[in-house]
Amino acid sequence: MNHYFTTDDITDLPDWLERGRALAQDPISLSHLGAGKTICLLFFNNSLRTRLSTQKAARNLGLEVMVMNVGSDGWNLEFEDGVRMDGGTAEHIREAAGVVAQYADLIGIRAFPGLKDREIDLQERVLKGFMEHSGIPVLNMESATAHPLQALADALTVDQFQIASGQAGQAIPSGGKVPKVVLSWAPHPRALPHAVPNSFLRIFRRMPVELVVTHPKGYELSSWAMGELKPTYDQQAALKDADFVYVKNWSSYSDYGKVLTEDPSWMMTADKLGHARFMHCLPVRRNVVVEDAVLDGSQTLIMEQAANRTVAASLALSHMLR
Ligand code: CP
Repeated sequence: MNHYFTTDDITDLPDWLERGRALAQDPISLSHLGAGKTICLLFFNNSLRTRLSTQKAARNLGLEVMVMNVGSDGWNLEFEDGVRMDGGTAEHIREAAGVVAQYADLIGIRAFPGLKDREIDLQERVLKGFMEHSGIPVLNMESATAHPLQALADALTVDQFQIASGQAGQAIPSGGKVPKVVLSWAPHPRALPHAVPNSFLRIFRRMPVELVVTHPKGYELSSWAMGELKPTYDQQAALKDADFVYVKNWSSYSDYGKVLTEDPSWMMTADKLGHARFMHCLPVRRNVVVEDAVLDGSQTLIMEQAANRTVAASLALSHMLR
């Protein structure tokens, strides 16, 4: 059974990127794959892009789609085994996951972390609970630790843009300079999860790029995300000669879930961006994370990223349907 839980479920990334290029040109070319099948999308948290792009991708593949806001409309789920359920939880994950599988062939789930207890969040109880007890393939629509649909869309965007500009392509360019991709932390008033930077780094560490990460001290990401990468705390130095700048806020991982600083000098500006292309997963707070001139300027790729969310979901769902 094929889940799409992290980008590590992509065994052959160049093949996925190549098929993504074809799907971008002909989105309904795989409309036979999901015929007669149903996907149930369960949202424990808000969404605009993930909800709409996954529905669109599912329909492009011929799937019937059911969507439920479980966070507001469903029963509170229990994840512990062997407990007496006389508190706030009304349904056990064992029954909930099994029941959804009576109505659907695939499940998509969005379930954010609580950002209170790192060990609990790392357990990924919602996604892993459905993977264990539903018996059908599960799509991660952003979990506590990973947002693999966003990361795949971001990789598709850089790949396609490099091809369009004739600089690189799906493989390492022979003798040419690989693009420099910078992940830059930005300020934000709320504590945000690590799922986007985690998945971004997991997939871009496999791309033919020079990858640089910059953030203030205290915002170091997990070794799972970083691998051998070392962060630089000097944003200006990190941005030098960048080709793509990916801006994202996240809360502290070591002082788990805390906002340590809102230093506005880390906001992305047109001046700092230079000639680089700007990327952000959205939603974004204007003039906090990035200034208007960047979002409204000609170097932004945010709509290309959003468009590639449908391609990414199509690739993930076709992987799950095979
Ligand atoms: N980037 C992203 O996942 O957007 P939504 O939270 O709106 O789905």
